[in-house]
Amino acid sequence: MALENDVLRKISPSDEERRAIDRKVGLLLERVKSEADKEDLGLEVLMVGSVAKDTFLRDPDLDVFILFPESVSRERLESIGLALGWKVLEKGEERYAEHPYIHGLWEALEVDMVPCYRIMDTTRLRSAVDRTPFHTQYVRSNLRDEQKKEVRLLKQFAKGVGVYGAEARTQGFSGYLLELLIIRFDSFRQVLEEASSWKRGAVLDLADEACRKFNDPLVFHDPVDANRNVASALSAQSLARFIYAARCYLDRPSERFFFPNRREPLKLDDMRAMLEQRGTGPLVITMRRPHIIDDNLYPQIRRSLEGACTMLEGSDFRVIDRAYHVAEDIRFVLELESLELPRGRYHSGPPAWVENSNAFLERWEKEGLSRPYLVNGHWAVVAPRAYTRADDL
Ligand code: UTP
Ligand code: MN
Ligand code: MN
Repeated sequence: MALENDVLRKISPSDEERRAIDRKVGLLLERVKSEADKEDLGLEVLMVGSVAKDTFLRDPDLDVFILFPESVSRERLESIGLALGWKVLEKGEERYAEHPYIHGLWEALEVDMVPCYRIMDTTRLRSAVDRTPFHTQYVRSNLRDEQKKEVRLLKQFAKGVGVYGAEARTQGFSGYLLELLIIRFDSFRQVLEEASSWKRGAVLDLADEACRKFNDPLVFHDPVDANRNVASALSAQSLARFIYAARCYLDRPSERFFFPNRREPLKLDDMRAMLEQRGTGPLVITMRRPHIIDDNLYPQIRRSLEGACTMLEGSDFRVIDRAYHVAEDIRFVLELESLELPRGRYHSGPPAWVENSNAFLERWEKEGLSRPYLVNGHWAVVAPRAYTRADDL
């Protein structure tokens, strides 16, 4: 389709860009290898990720893995692996979610340099990233040349829709997951056709072996490790976005899915008019941003925001919508049905024929905003709220 060919032209690296990347990759591997050889441990240096699989978009990052023999201890793997990264890369920084590695620059390209174990097969995992070389190998032998452009389209589509990346910040589709989807369903179009009828909990497969059961929003059994769900990082929210975007695109394709318009912030006056018309109230909670990495920060932000909603709803404030924004500080933005509730709330008690209903009467005779009264035989009272304003709470 013409539209998709246009998009491909924009996102695919040119021959010249490829040559430049090849050259930089060659130099980087050579350099890392010569440093690694000095350790005399039989370290192997391996290009993985989208550059090794030829599924990268323009301006790719380079994913370089350093494979250690299993005989090396975890501590030494980490210290040697990180030291190599520090030595070779510019502007290196240590990144750590479950496994430490160095992110830095090499000839102006972003590089992830990750130490891992060279294992015989994925039943013998020693660290979280030991599967990656197997993933690279699997895609290289199962993705056909003419499907690489389909992967690129799908990646750009997922990017445009805001669901590309398995990191905690996005909770979306990893590059590997999108590659598997193309291997499984053949083309960009067919993946979208399939996606438009996915339900939460859909299970996908490339080998029909007996597999572990998962409870995630989408399950794609890893063809190199039956105990792993490749889509484990995908949230229900991102899955829903992707399904809806797939339906809309099939219905009415547009370049906007790949390259969305920048969203301008709503003007304050427009916001006021909107809330006025709805009769709802905005609540903004601002807090300092702790200096921790995104993979730790975002899960905490989401839990805190859910906690704030639960607390508000526990005090009768109804939450219509919620969002968070991370910049210099962190903001939770909530839209509530109402920012203020009446001092008195209806509080129901036991039926009058129950023995201990006297306890209810004694308490609320003193503390109620009304005297206890009967509703269909049950005691009730107008009780005072601890908080009548959401911001006080
Ligand atoms: P990437 O996130 O770079 O994905 O991880 P990709 O497939 O190369 O796609 P793009 O084109 O850059 O977006 C590459 C591989 O390295 C592993 C991942 O498992 C992935 O398969 N990796 C990367 C880690 O295990 N840990 C990291 O911190 C980074
Ligand atoms: Mn990459
Ligand atoms: Mn990477």
